[in-house]
Amino acid sequence: MARTIDGKQVANAIIATVTEGASTLEFQSGVKPCLAVVIVGDDPASHAYVNAKSRMAKQCGFHSIQRSLPADIKQETLEELVAGLNLDPNVHGILVQLPLPKHLSPEPVIAAISPDKDVDGLNVINAGKVAVGDLQSGLLPCTPAGAMLLVEEVHGRDLSGLNAVVIGRSNLFGKPMALMLLAANATVTMAHSRTRDLPAICRTADILVAAVGRAHMVRGDWIKPGATVIDVGINRIPAPENGEGKTRLVGDVMLADAACIAGAVTPVPGGVGPMTIAMLMSNTLKAAQRAVD
Ligand code: GUN
Repeated sequence: MARTIDGKQVANAIIATVTEGASTLEFQSGVKPCLAVVIVGDDPASHAYVNAKSRMAKQCGFHSIQRSLPADIKQETLEELVAGLNLDPNVHGILVQLPLPKHLSPEPVIAAISPDKDVDGLNVINAGKVAVGDLQSGLLPCTPAGAMLLVEEVHGRDLSGLNAVVIGRSNLFGKPMALMLLAANATVTMAHSRTRDLPAICRTADILVAAVGRAHMVRGDWIKPGATVIDVGINRIPAPENGEGKTRLVGDVMLADAACIAGAVTPVPGGVGPMTIAMLMSNTLKAAQRAVD
């Protein structure tokens, strides 16, 4: 039976350290870390994520600002709002929740965020630092940074000699995840929707990372016996067994299969999800500490 990697437990430990760090920073410099979260439109899932981020910021002892904007806002107005937050010395971290409504392009909005306040680590400056192997001086994207800490729970920091396969090539996750695995000396394959014979490629993985957004896509026969499986998917599927109209969250991996074959596996929920928020808090504290230094 595979070991379950408890993301909640690892995330709680990070949150405790961040809370202590925030308290020390405030005591020593009078500065309270402040996270500004911007959300456009009324997608219920996005609002739920954003509320969780704001709640956790408060729990860490941060100031938390939330700007909720109507779905029909203009591109310039959104970029002006970001520019205002860049100039506000009391704001240390800025996050614009994605996806944005269709008429808005996310790239210029992300580019408008000052790299020093880009706690999502998505700005080209921060993404570029990851690409050249500098994981120290910028801000790392939260979900891959959190997933790496879960990999570290099993394999330590040096992944020399291990094959890693990342399914999914998004800027938000797949690309930076592959680069971070590479920086830790893994031999990395990036697989995606155009990859031929995906199951065979996945079977070569000592570390298999799934981020495709398709419920239960990764089956038991895709997994090398003993592999570490990191499931980044969050998919809502019908759960009539829990009552009419009920739903439940599942990952991209068929957990029951992985539990029998893998060596270690992250559950959904309770795996990578809690790590994303914890790393966001960690980045916000880091940005505030750097602003004071
Ligand atoms: N939407 C889903 N995940 C994320 C994330 O990590 N950051 C932002 N800004 N939006 C998201």
